[in-house]
Amino acid sequence: MEKLNIVIFGAPGSGKGTQSEKLIEKYGLTHISTGDVLRKEIKNGSKLGKIAEEYISKGQLLPDELIVNILADTLDKCEIVKGVIFDGFPRTIPQAEALKKVLSERNMDISVVLGLEVEEKELIDRLLKRGAISGRSDDNIETINKRLEVYHSQTDPLREDYIKEGKYKPITGDGTIDDIFEKIKKVIALL
Ligand code: AP5
Ligand code: MG
Repeated sequence: MEKLNIVIFGAPGSGKGTQSEKLIEKYGLTHISTGDVLRKEIKNGSKLGKIAEEYISKGQLLPDELIVNILADTLDKCEIVKGVIFDGFPRTIPQAEALKKVLSERNMDISVVLGLEVEEKELIDRLLKRGAISGRSDDNIETINKRLEVYHSQTDPLREDYIKEGKYKPITGDGTIDDIFEKIKKVIALL
């Protein structure tokens, strides 16, 4: 059977990680979250973790070349049975181009880009709420605003390209976690 390779796309706080968990459970997918990989490196105190913390705490993206290498490495280390979810990658046009290349070299392709579309006020509310418990250095209002600005200037433009390729499926990301997941399941059923 063909693999189900999903890019889960959306602004900070749009629910990429939350919906990824549900997708993994339902479809047996392998999760690759570049943010999670970097946070693990920070926790381990590695050299990469120290570099990552500099960028993450300021709400800035890591350089494309560095993150593309991390992505390719992570992909080669994981076991893929039914497919992959790319969560938080790609985030720039060069990253999207690199992903195409990395996948085609491995005889893989993106099946669908699920775009979680959520109002900005709701995004900020969710991240501030999480900030009270997460310990994430980027869940404070100053860094949240910077992340949103970076999203609009560097990441959102990718949507156009995926729309042109016919891969982008918008999902209204407001509502309960389960309602949103129902919408995602319907989109996947039609692939
Ligand atoms: P990353 O870890 O990817 O963070 P992000 O994109 O800022 O997004 P979040 O993880 O905060 O949000 P999410 O969309 O996953 O939402 P979640 O499900 O958690 O990146 C962090 C940093 O790492 C970047 O800023 C950058 O520095 C670096 N980085 C990572 N990838 C990179 C790349 N490719 N290139 C360069 N740099 C990179 O939900 C948020 C909250 O809302 C949770 O508390 C959740 O419980 C709650 N929630 C979810 N759904 C709902 C709902 N329906 N109703 C109410 N609450 C909800
Ligand atoms: Mg996340």
